Amino acid sequence: MGWRAHLQEGDIAIDATCGNGYDTLFLSQLDPCGMVVALDIQDEALQRTKALLSRVLPQERLARILLRCQCHTALSEVPLPKPPRLIVYNLGYLPGGNKGIVTRAETSVASLRAALSLLAPDGAISMVCYPGHPEGEREEKAILAFLQTLAVEVWSVSYQRQILSPTAPSLFWISKRASSMR
Ligand SMILES: C[S@@+](CC[C@H](N)C(=O)[O-])C[C@H]1O[C@@H](n2cnc3c(N)ncnc32)[C@H](O)[C@@H]1O
Repeated sequence: MGWRAHLQEGDIAIDATCGNGYDTLFLSQLDPCGMVVALDIQDEALQRTKALLSRVLPQERLARILLRCQCHTALSEVPLPKPPRLIVYNLGYLPGGNKGIVTRAETSVASLRAALSLLAPDGAISMVCYPGHPEGEREEKAILAFLQTLAVEVWSVSYQRQILSPTAPSLFWISKRASSMR
């Protein structure tokens, strides 16, 4: 499963680490009728995202995108008309920005907990990790350990990594099992 296959018309998607805005833009173009919320702790990232979206998208599409400068641990504080069906994370630092400001194991796991509670019943979460730097490796381990504690009757979690290049980015895809919704 991927973003394109998962999103349905009118869905709400959250980009929990919007950075330079490429993922927010992609999500906005996948579903022109849906709402996209983009979060980042750095104002610089929000400014770059806003500039990219304004260059590419028409005004009516921009009106359904919400940009917020906040930590993704406070996901539940975002005002939403209905639960999100997709929450995406691209962890690490802002490319071309301050490499000292990175996502961290504790806040990423806290945000993941919030995302699991917030998600629509048939929603999904994707998370790209970067184990090639020390904090990224610690973070990926903490996320893996947390996800292994989830109830298998409710959640399905897949974990994709390059076994010949262990420092390459890895991907978690977390979704609620259809059987848990009956
Ligand atoms: C790899 S970048 C994201 C790239 C982005 N998805 C894109 O398409 O350009 C990671 C971003 O996470 C942000 N970040 C770090 N800690 C965060 C937190 N606690 N809450 C929200 N964003 C955070 C960083 O500021 C950085 O911009």
